[in-house]
Amino acid sequence: MSEIILPQVELNIYTPKDTVTATIAENYIVTSSSSPNFVRHITFDISGTDLVGRVKCGQAIGVLPPGMNEKGRPHKIRLYSVSSPDEGEGGDPTKISTTVKRVLEEWESKLYTGVASNYLADLQPGDEVKLTGPSGRRFLLPENANDFNYIFFATGTGIAPFRAMIQQLYASGFDKSCVLIFGCPYRTDLLYESWLDNVESEQSGFHYLKSISREGRRPDGSKDYVQTKLTDEESLLRPLLEKPDTLIYICGLQGMEDGIYRELLRQRLHGYFEPGRPLPEDPGALDSAELKRMLKPSSRLFVEVY
Ligand code: A2P
Repeated sequence: MSEIILPQVELNIYTPKDTVTATIAENYIVTSSSSPNFVRHITFDISGTDLVGRVKCGQAIGVLPPGMNEKGRPHKIRLYSVSSPDEGEGGDPTKISTTVKRVLEEWESKLYTGVASNYLADLQPGDEVKLTGPSGRRFLLPENANDFNYIFFATGTGIAPFRAMIQQLYASGFDKSCVLIFGCPYRTDLLYESWLDNVESEQSGFHYLKSISREGRRPDGSKDYVQTKLTDEESLLRPLLEKPDTLIYICGLQGMEDGIYRELLRQRLHGYFEPGRPLPEDPGALDSAELKRMLKPSSRLFVEVY
């Protein structure tokens, strides 16, 4: 198997104390018009900044919302994964994009709106925004990316880095296998669906699996979650997972991480965990925190959960 060589990346060219101003190039909704959720694809024009050519797919940028929090202090930076490849959105190095869900929550009969996500979602082309970054030094494609197969697990906006990575891989002649397993509540929440359907029809090694959690149940009554595909699509996934040159990337809700770990353990796919550590004999008896304390990702497993 080829050695996994992670690229050297630039970190924190801009910091919360020394932000950079970008402008909004485009901001459009990517959830279907009948969805009660609002997810947007937002592209920043970073022309003239030191971010040009220095943001790698898998990395994040920080957004500084204007104004103060309820304690009268300036808002903190919020991190967003970039959804554009290394070459920039649409191949333009002066543009980088991200994928943002408006956070709306009701608590004690009041509606709470996420500060940064709603600020970003409301911005119009030409508006200015303060950015930091880039950040993230491990959740990256290897430099020798075309030597590996990939299984990408995403829920919701966790798809952002995979939009970038899939574009990156196929732009550089990738011809091994890549599976994207995407989870969301309803079909109306599928993100970048038509583009992904196209990639699947054009690239024989690409598979796009959808886990729709709230429309129907699996035969045993459980929800269709990304990790249940490891069982339900075993004939596709297991042979790939057994190959020593397959890498797993996980991005999205924290809960899926231990769900995936439990499935990998059940199928005795131990190569994704750090060798030399005892593996749990009965993972079902451990809670999520205990499981994550025992298992550390090997070099073939990349995790970004929140
Ligand atoms: P559900 O909420 O039906 O339980 P979004 O970010 O768009 O809300 O999507 C998140 C998706 O991840 C939903 O389909 C959600 O299902 C699913 N999900 C929730 N908890 C877990 C978990 N522990 N493991 C995997 N998927 C999960």
